[in-house]
Amino acid sequence: MTHKLAILPGDGIGPDIVAEAVKVLTALRDDFGLEVAWDEAAVGGTAYDETGHPLPAATLELAQSAEAVLLGAVGGPRWEALDHSVRPERALLGLRKELGLFANLRPAKAFPELVEASALRPEVVAGIDIMVVRELTGGIYFGEPSGVEELADGRRRGVNTLVYTSDEIERIGWVAFDIARKRSGRVCSVDKANVLEATELWREVITELGERDYPDVALSHMYVDNAAMQLVRAPSQFDVMVTTNMFGDILSDEASMLTGSIGLLPSASLNQEGAGMYEPIHGSAPDIAGTGQANPLATILSVAMMLRYSLNEAPLADRVEGAVARVLADGWRTPDIAGNGEAVGTAEMGDAVIAALRE
Ligand code: IPM
Ligand code: MG
Repeated sequence: MTHKLAILPGDGIGPDIVAEAVKVLTALRDDFGLEVAWDEAAVGGTAYDETGHPLPAATLELAQSAEAVLLGAVGGPRWEALDHSVRPERALLGLRKELGLFANLRPAKAFPELVEASALRPEVVAGIDIMVVRELTGGIYFGEPSGVEELADGRRRGVNTLVYTSDEIERIGWVAFDIARKRSGRVCSVDKANVLEATELWREVITELGERDYPDVALSHMYVDNAAMQLVRAPSQFDVMVTTNMFGDILSDEASMLTGSIGLLPSASLNQEGAGMYEPIHGSAPDIAGTGQANPLATILSVAMMLRYSLNEAPLADRVEGAVARVLADGWRTPDIAGNGEAVGTAEMGDAVIAALRE
């Protein structure tokens, strides 16, 4: 059975980094027996320019028919003045909602060669290996009512609603507990149960689930303000963190910064069937788009996550991750991680990974 992929390069550096990931997929197909085929489609601002919508119907259909989607990045200053309904970011939210991608996995792992690049002291970040499991299709991002209204007296009123049902909490809980079983067996659930009722429910449901189905996993709870503080104070205490859509948005950015390079971090967004969307967690970096300076490793590592979580090709996932670790150990650096040292370009980095794959 040939795996069918949708490739959505998107905006800014998206096409630059996705091109390197496609080279890796091509090598896996031609030299390692991966049965895979793909089609490309426009998404984000690029799609808006072409069709007037950031997520055209044809792109959504392609994504829906695929086993996995590889996305580069969306957004850029060119489209910032657009109405919310057609902003490039809407394409991401639309794909998440339409594909039912409720589970967002954002690993933040420190590569030993790069601990010096972290904003924190090397001894604080050495060895960190955190998996943020973020709920992705609920919470305040999608709750109704939402919007801005004009009041009779001329003031305006903006509303968003934080809402979770017990089944939504339970299914993200399963994902986090299952992942914890394959790692260190620890889950920290992050909420604001001291203030927000919706997250009081969150804590209750996660606690019940742990007691009932995962007595072997050590569950702890933390308020989000404390979690944000602990992440910079002593990040190595964390393994799997499970949290709401908005807290996960914020904490995953914070966790990524600990590792020294946001250019190295992949992510996966999965639905109930195991289909998923894979993307680097960094943005579209429009200032360096097309200059050949972007770091393609996060996108290449997203291919590895795709192999692992959607295509069931764990040995090849290991191989890709091993190749990336190898090029870093061998000293290959794009400008974002080069410090004052010598740097290579996007395509050279991609070629180095492919050479390491074949070794
Ligand atoms: C992310 C991004 C998105 C989010 C934006 C671009 C809609 O920040 O994937 O973390 O807030 O979810
Ligand atoms: Mg974010």
